[in-house]
Parts: sequence; C-alpha cells; structure tokens
Amino acid sequence: MDLKQHINKNKLPRHVALIMDGNGRWAKQRGQERIFGHENGIEAVRDTVKAAAEIGIKYLTFFAFSTENWCRPLREVETLMDLLTRAIVNETPELNENGVRLQAIGDLESLPLNCREILREAMELTAKNDKLIVTVALSYSARWEIVNAVQKIAQKVADRIISPDAIDETTFINALETAKIPDPDLLIRTSGELRVSNFMLWQIAYTELYFTPVYWPDFRRRHLYQAIVDFQRRERRFGNVETHPVNTKNA
Ligand code: IPE
Ligand code: IPE
Ligand code: MG
Repeated sequence: MDLKQHINKNKLPRHVALIMDGNGRWAKQRGQERIFGHENGIEAVRDTVKAAAEIGIKYLTFFAFSTENWCRPLREVETLMDLLTRAIVNETPELNENGVRLQAIGDLESLPLNCREILREAMELTAKNDKLIVTVALSYSARWEIVNAVQKIAQKVADRIISPDAIDETTFINALETAKIPDPDLLIRTSGELRVSNFMLWQIAYTELYFTPVYWPDFRRRHLYQAIVDFQRRERRFGNVETHPVNTKNA
C-alpha cells in the first residue's frame, strides 16, 4: 500500500513533534554499543525531514537530548554532542537549499561551546527560510522550560512591567521556548515506551499522541505517513461535542 496516497493534503498536521527513542536498544539488539544506535539515528532524521517537506508539513520538532540525559555516562554524552555537532555541519547546506529553517529550544547555554557555535551559525544561515521549520530540542525538558517561563514573568512583575492579574495564557505562552511555534498537532514516540518523558507538557494539552514500537534508527518516511494517516482518522474535539460549531459566546 502506498501510504502517501492515503494522506489527505487538506488535513495535514501543521506541527509534528517526535520523541526519538530506542537508539540504545537498537544497537544492543545488534550486539553493539549504544552509540552505534545514535549514529544510525541520523538517517532516520534525514528521511523524516525530507518526507515532511515533501508532503507539506510546516513544523517538525525533534526531541534530541533531554535535561535528564546529562546524567548518562560521560562518554555517551560526549559522543552524542559530537554527533549532533557533526550532523548540523553536514546537513545544514542541504537543509538551506531546500528552504528549511533550523532552530533550537532548550538550555542551549549548557551545550559545549563548539556545538553552540555551529548551531548558531546554522540558525543564522537558515533564518529566512520558511518552507519547513525544524526545531531541535536540546538540553530541553518541559519542567525546566516552565520554571524558566515563571522566572521571566516574575521578573516582569518585579520590574512593574506587568501586574499579576494581567497574566493570562498568552503571557505564559510567550514566555515559553516555543513562543513562536504552534502547539504540536501530532506527537510521535518511537520504541514502544508509553510516556512523554518531560517533553512539551504545556504544549501537548490537545495533541494527538501516537506510539510506535519501531526503534528510532529504523524510523523511515513510511512510519511518518502511517502516523499521519492514523492522525487523520481521529476526531479532535477540544472539549466540544462532535461537529458542533464553536460557541462564539464562549470561544
Ligand atoms: C534516544 O535513544 C536518544 C536519546 C535519548 C538521546 P536512547 O538512547 O534513549 O535509547 P534507549 O531508549 O535506551 O533504547
Ligand atoms: C526521551 O527519551 C528523551 C529523548 C528522546 C531525547 P529517554 O530515553 O531519555 O526517556 P526515558 O528515560 O525512557 O523516559
Ligand atoms: Mg530511551
């Protein structure tokens, strides 16, 4: 079955987010070190970005490294940072040619200096592109992001820029890392784990969740298409009742 043909182009998720999980287990299955799995995860990212651009997805977000992942063995962390830096160097020219904008969310200050520099250059180079916005979550966790947002808002209150009772959802959204990115419509997690592991807790309030047993290094465009076809079969109600027009009085 050609899954791509089953995708309704008029009902595409605007923003697809991915928790790329299972690299270590993929490597272990092959009698290799975990790092082998991370290396092989890059091709999965490449194929996913290409596929998303082809069908017209606007925002794609990859959870690449969490705040908690810093606790992993030093060698794994260092290799991951190295892989990430090299991947950005290697992939940015092609991303740029294809009109892809690269951006990052998370505690970027905590990344190694060379990685931060490479990332900054890639973001600057692609800043004017708008065909597809690819966001990489690095040293990111939702709780970190939320605490950070609270600090920013508290500072504005202390400086008398805003008053506490003027704080609303928009104030909060604007203080998040994702201020300029719409909430994900679809969140995909690979590797069979049924959890969100501190990812975009605020933003996924009404996101459709999709879990696949496929380990990240095996993830390819057909898996993305499968998730989108599944997404398009669902009815999103946002707390309303099916097909009932939004009550403008309450909207
Ligand atoms: C995902 O794969 C990559 C990162 C979290 C950086 P894992 O490294 O978590 O692989 P598993 O889940 O242990 O198999
Ligand atoms: C989530 O995967 C983080 C990333 C994919 C970057 P983890 O492997 O770190 O999550 P847990 O430990 O299984 O919850
Ligand atoms: Mg994992």
